[in-house]
Amino acid sequence: MPDLTPLLAFRWSPRAFDPAAMLTGDEATSLLEAARWAPSAGNTQPWRFAFGHREDDTWKRILVSLPADDQRWARHASALVVVAHTGGDPERAAYDLGQAVAHLSVQATALGLHVHQLTRFDRAGLATELDLPVGIRPTVVVAVGRLGDPFALPEDLRDRETGLRQRRPLADLLLA
Ligand SMILES: Cc1cc2nc3c(=O)[nH]c(=O)nc-3n(C[C@H](O)[C@H](O)[C@H](O)COP(=O)(O)O)c2cc1C
Repeated sequence: MPDLTPLLAFRWSPRAFDPAAMLTGDEATSLLEAARWAPSAGNTQPWRFAFGHREDDTWKRILVSLPADDQRWARHASALVVVAHTGGDPERAAYDLGQAVAHLSVQATALGLHVHQLTRFDRAGLATELDLPVGIRPTVVVAVGRLGDPFALPEDLRDRETGLRQRRPLADLLLA
């Protein structure tokens, strides 16, 4: 890993979460504050959040909106957070939401937590389940928790969990 700040170097998206760990109220607030203070185009702040702590009603509704494959590991996350946008230009909203979640992720690392984002979920079903106002569109589900034991994962997930992470070389990313 190159010389990145530890807040970025230690971030990755695990599937093995500690099934016994819960978030404190302060930790949950701190994650949401990090997202709230993200920059956005024209300071429009087009993000809204539904925050579920493990086993509460919101958490259960979010969990069942995920594909069965992902429920296998996401059910151990301490929190499941829906990040939704308020409409308007979808490209701008997607950019702003991504930035808010990035800030949340950095804050999570600072708290010793890990985040795994998911865009594969039943958006319409979740909007109904959470009784979201018309025009509020769920965009991403963020699973948050403390690292668990990768060997407790089903075998297919264990291999992915322990494999080397890859990125394109920097030279391939430079356009000019
Ligand atoms: C916008 C977004 C959507 C993602 N959706 C999914 C998803 O639906 N299912 C999943 O298992 N991982 C999902 N991921 C996690 C990525 O696969 C992961 O971030 C990527 O493989 C890089 O790995 P790293 O985060 O460990 O560096 C998503 C990540 C992002 C940023």
